[in-house]
Amino acid sequence: MQRLQTTSLRVADNQLFILDQQALPQEKRWLDASTVEALVGHIHALRVRGAPLIGLSASLLLALLAENGLSRDQLATALETLRASRPTAVNLMNNLDRMKQALWQEDFIPALVAEALRLIDEDKRLCDAIAQAGSQLVKPGSRLLTHCNTGGLATAGVGTALGVIALAHQQGNVSNVWVDETRPLLQGGRLTAWELGELGVPYQLITDSMAASLMAKGQVDAVWVGADRIAANGDVANKIGTYSLAVLAKFHGIPFYVAAPQTTLDPACPNGEAIPIEQRDAREVTGVAGSFGAVQWAPENAQVYNPAFDVTPAALISGWVLDSGVVLPEDVQRGIFGGSAV
Ligand code: MRU
Repeated sequence: MQRLQTTSLRVADNQLFILDQQALPQEKRWLDASTVEALVGHIHALRVRGAPLIGLSASLLLALLAENGLSRDQLATALETLRASRPTAVNLMNNLDRMKQALWQEDFIPALVAEALRLIDEDKRLCDAIAQAGSQLVKPGSRLLTHCNTGGLATAGVGTALGVIALAHQQGNVSNVWVDETRPLLQGGRLTAWELGELGVPYQLITDSMAASLMAKGQVDAVWVGADRIAANGDVANKIGTYSLAVLAKFHGIPFYVAAPQTTLDPACPNGEAIPIEQRDAREVTGVAGSFGAVQWAPENAQVYNPAFDVTPAALISGWVLDSGVVLPEDVQRGIFGGSAV
């Protein structure tokens, strides 16, 4: 396959490399992800993360494995293993459905390569279109709040919610970004803070529990988040903590926007209750670990509840900003996602 480079993915010498998102921002380290075991390990550990990026990395790996001589049966097994690596983000399943179609073509090797490259190109275009559509909603002087990481690290392009924020900043309309640190894995504190710094966008890092008082003080003009899956009735699964922000935004009369590409839509999923939510290791809550070291503060054997995502009901969302444009609550009620909001 041709050499390829995005913010967090690299193909060189028929091998796949990922930018280790657990090592950022202290270290910019590229890791080999050229086997199914390696990539699944990176996905589990969130070294590769973000709904679009997970799907793209799995698709690129399948294409490379095909070029490196795996049989159609071996590729079909690899595809199913990759599909099961993270359950909530539907981009993975949507991308792999397309790769599966390519796998059943007669010339499956070039078909898989072409499909994987198409998915990468498409993702870039989808991100640009989301940024264009979303930036029109950002009023001059806006103080925006975002959660988790939805930037170039999580996609092949400029990102989703963070792509909107970056373009709105270029247009001169963002005065500050409140960055939720995003417990337990700190994607906001580590990754979004780093990306905004690189882009020269003014931001202030906050702990997740500070959002309420900022909103009460009138310091937040809009909330922008990404999505891991959008159900047919408009309910949205996203990083744990998103739902509380949506409730807070509703209470304070602040617009709450979800930015996502069409690969995040799941019309077959009727509502948020049907979205599988990944439960993760207790150690993510009992302490913290990263390139900065590891620490545990909870007692040994502390009992833990650690869902990676939560569901925000459609009723709390002011707009779904897709590559096709802004979807409003009345559009969702008319069934634009394949269902109707309650
Ligand atoms: O567990 P993560 O870090 O993969 O969770 C990421 C999110 O929740 C993002 O908001 C979502 O995947 C969209 S990324 C463009």
